[in-house]
Amino acid sequence: VSGSGRSSWDDPRDVVASKRDGNEIPGDALRSFVLGYARGEIPDYLAAAFLMAAFVNGLSRRETAELTRAMVASGSTLPLSGVSGPKVDKHSTGGVSDGVTLVFAPLAASLGLAVAKLSGRGLGHTGGTLDKLESIPGFRTRLSPEELERQVEAIGCAVVGQSEDLVPADGALYALRDATATVPSVPLIASSVMSKKLVVGTDLILLDVKAGSGAFMKTPEAAAELAEVCMQLAADWGRRARAAVTDMSQPLGRAIGNALEIAEAVRILRGEERGSLRELAVAFAGEAVAALQGRQLREGRAAAEEALDSGRAAGSFARMVQAQGGDPKVVDDPWSVLPSAPVRLELAVPGPGLRYIEATDAEALGRAAMSLGAGRVRKGDPIDPAVGVEFLAKVGDGVEEGETIAVIHARDQDRARACAVLVLEALRLSDRPVPPPPLIHGWHQASEGSP
Ligand code: URA
Repeated sequence: VSGSGRSSWDDPRDVVASKRDGNEIPGDALRSFVLGYARGEIPDYLAAAFLMAAFVNGLSRRETAELTRAMVASGSTLPLSGVSGPKVDKHSTGGVSDGVTLVFAPLAASLGLAVAKLSGRGLGHTGGTLDKLESIPGFRTRLSPEELERQVEAIGCAVVGQSEDLVPADGALYALRDATATVPSVPLIASSVMSKKLVVGTDLILLDVKAGSGAFMKTPEAAAELAEVCMQLAADWGRRARAAVTDMSQPLGRAIGNALEIAEAVRILRGEERGSLRELAVAFAGEAVAALQGRQLREGRAAAEEALDSGRAAGSFARMVQAQGGDPKVVDDPWSVLPSAPVRLELAVPGPGLRYIEATDAEALGRAAMSLGAGRVRKGDPIDPAVGVEFLAKVGDGVEEGETIAVIHARDQDRARACAVLVLEALRLSDRPVPPPPLIHGWHQASEGSP
């Protein structure tokens, strides 16, 4: 434990001491530690100390693979052997107004791919796909593995919550990381994300690694490092995978809040709205079609655009909503089904004259929506599906004094006004034109071949 002398690794404090001193932990010792924690045999304080040591001193490539292997071994797997089509999974590292899954899953299904998506709930300033879908009254996010497979086989897609026996070590460690300020670490995020992808039997893993103010990785360089580590893990397991590093320096779509984001996804699925959210969903769908159906990337993207514009993708979404207990009318007339907030406050651009959006703090906008009740501070907190912020401008846009820049949907006037202050604080205007940031910084790929 002192860090000097040989250790037998029977005492879990040796694992902590080894990482504290910047040493590499032997695979067996790391594995017993992680599995011991998942079984409740190692206390939170030791695991928290390990996480902080790993956060500060990093994990080697071998340790990252071993941690991932232990997480995978902590629970059951979902082979999806009852699903016959080419199977694709997509995961985002988390962002604000990140509705890509809501569009991608039905879009990919409408292109002949199978998507069995295990999604999460929102935590902190980031939103969660399950919370968004549950704003559709009656929508069930808990399906048994058999129900999930049947639904994907029948209609091509399902979006559900992860069952507790799938990667339980990640469930426990992620909650502890959230409570101990140890989330934004490349090896810890990579093992957390990839363990959840590796237990599901898919033919292609697509990762959306976010970079910017609303993401865990604040720069494209840090996000690229995370993407590379994830791709190495995929290659170690012999899995096909691609990762895009994408912009999260501003909200991806225009809606931040659960029902608002469903309504936005519906507009995109019906081919009625352009913009970054559509563009990214099309990029992922194009990539999946190219990889799994042997077509050119250009053709894959064109097929995705066509599926949105023709309404075919919207049809897949309606079938998924119906299969999971929601009202499919949400596709034809969203606000006849979705809950809406009683107060709407339009926020105007402060003067004077014409100016340009220089920057928006995506995390601060996520927190502004949370202040209305759209998100949760602690796991298990209730959320209000109806509230949120529509943030209408993008970095680089020119805006005139008095123009509406945001619409706040709140329970009462006081909360709306307090939120308006937060939204304005998240905004930086410039007198000079500003170039918009690129949406996709770059793609990374797992080297294919023998693991
Ligand atoms: N998403 C995950 O699943 N895990 C992390 O550690 C961070 C984002």
